[in-house]
Amino acid sequence: MTTSNAPITGHLRVGIAGLGRLGRRHAEALAFTTRHVQLVSACSPVEAEREHARTSLGVQRVHADFDAFLADPDIDAVVLVTPTSLHADQTIAALKAGKHVFVEKPLALNVPDCERVLAVAEQHPGQVAMVGFVRRFDASYQNAQAAIAAGEIGRPFLVRSQTCDQNDPDGFFVRFAPTSGGIYMDCSVHDIDLARWMLGRPKALRAFASGTIAMHPGLAECGDVDNGLAIVEFEGGARAVFYASRTFAHGHETTTEIIGTAGKLMVGEHAALDRVIRSDARGVGHAVLPDFHARFEGAFTREINAFVAACRGVAPLDLTLSDAMEATRIGLAITRSLHSGQVETIA
Ligand code: NAI
Repeated sequence: MTTSNAPITGHLRVGIAGLGRLGRRHAEALAFTTRHVQLVSACSPVEAEREHARTSLGVQRVHADFDAFLADPDIDAVVLVTPTSLHADQTIAALKAGKHVFVEKPLALNVPDCERVLAVAEQHPGQVAMVGFVRRFDASYQNAQAAIAAGEIGRPFLVRSQTCDQNDPDGFFVRFAPTSGGIYMDCSVHDIDLARWMLGRPKALRAFASGTIAMHPGLAECGDVDNGLAIVEFEGGARAVFYASRTFAHGHETTTEIIGTAGKLMVGEHAALDRVIRSDARGVGHAVLPDFHARFEGAFTREINAFVAACRGVAPLDLTLSDAMEATRIGLAITRSLHSGQVETIA
């Protein structure tokens, strides 16, 4: 099946696959708040999730089988919020079925899979294929990137960026780890994409990583850690330092510092939930962001709006599949270094 290059003038008819932790959020936005969209179809192998789509989201066409979901000629675009290990094959199948595709990050867990997706996307130039690097749609990160592009901090040469989640005693991510690609592919991949974006997409050369299991011994079984550090060297002298944690006691803390020859920018310091600062006998403090969704809720809205606008031919995307492939390439080198204990070359 093919899709014409003609812009969609009415509502974009969207189907969503995956209604888990994040998919449910995307689905609610598509069903109730995203403009120019109709959520018409949903897919999940889990009956309770399909029931949620029918009763809470009002979706009429609900599938357990992904191929049946894709075979529906009355959907223009799919939003894939499925386990990472499925992203590449599902994206390829959706493109071949003539759909625009939004797929959550990371694009794939190996470079050949990314290359397969890029090759199929090239054969379908009239269709949008977008990977969900949500931070590119966050107002603060967009301001920082625009300031750097305008030369306000001189030449940027160092990015220090972290993604740190509040400890989850239930260990959701321990069960999630075998399909997520590990802490660097799951969490740091956002920071990796940010670093490339802020530094002007330099070529990555080498990576070194070290990590530790501070609280969740179950991660050892799949070679993962709950706290990981990494250094990446780029061509031309730029460097990046990444930190990811699953065990913060106080809340979610995504922060990034970009250092240039004439200044530096800091994004997301202090993880404040809101603008209330309380002073009392215990001291001065504020409430903390509980999770990534609270931090990036506005960015998720702008992200899906950007996808819809691209599908409707209104505004092209700056974020490309090549960017997503490079993020995977760097994340994999970091993960290899964690396991080898050696500096890894990024081919
Ligand atoms: P989850 O495990 O809660 O949800 C996965 C969903 O996929 C479930 O609804 C499951 O039933 C469904 N599923 C499994 N196999 C399927 C199949 N063959 N066809 C259709 N649906 C299928 O996982 P979570 O946390 O929602 O993550 C999903 C994806 O979103 C991951 O790739 C993850 O990396 C990404 N993610 C991105 C974030 C961001 O900040 N952009 C934050 C959290 C997750």
